[in-house]
Amino acid sequence: MKPLKKSAVAVLIALTANLPTSAFALDAAELYVKKTCVACHGKDAKTPILPIYPKLAGQNADYAYNQMKDIASGARNHGQTAAMKGIMHLVSDEEMRAIADWLATLE
Ligand code: HEC
Repeated sequence: MKPLKKSAVAVLIALTANLPTSAFALDAAELYVKKTCVACHGKDAKTPILPIYPKLAGQNADYAYNQMKDIASGARNHGQTAAMKGIMHLVSDEEMRAIADWLATLE
């Protein structure tokens, strides 16, 4: 095999340096399905099964992450939160972060 050119290596490093590490570790779109988020919030994260369930696509990542944390911990607790709280023990902090970052990229 031909050794990689120095310039090619530099490009690769430049490309990967900008990616968040979670993009490598976790596939957020897959988690969104596997952790059943899809069942309530919809395939595209903006057609929830009930009108009073929130649309998530395009939401600010930090906001979405904080809401997940608060729903999981019970700090956010009213009306509809009970529906979601039940599954949140299955979702790690790192996974919430990855899903929140991904949701923010959706339109
Ligand atoms: C059983 C239904 C259900 C499931 C499963 C579910 N959610 Fe929710 N989710 C809700 C409901 C209902 C709310 C709104 C709660 C309220 O009214 O306070 C909500 C709220 C949220 C919010 C806050 C939105 C906002 O605008 O404040 C985020 C973010 C969120 N869910 C993400 C997720 C993710 C990610 C998953 C999967 C790990 C998930 N949800 C699984 C029903 C669900």
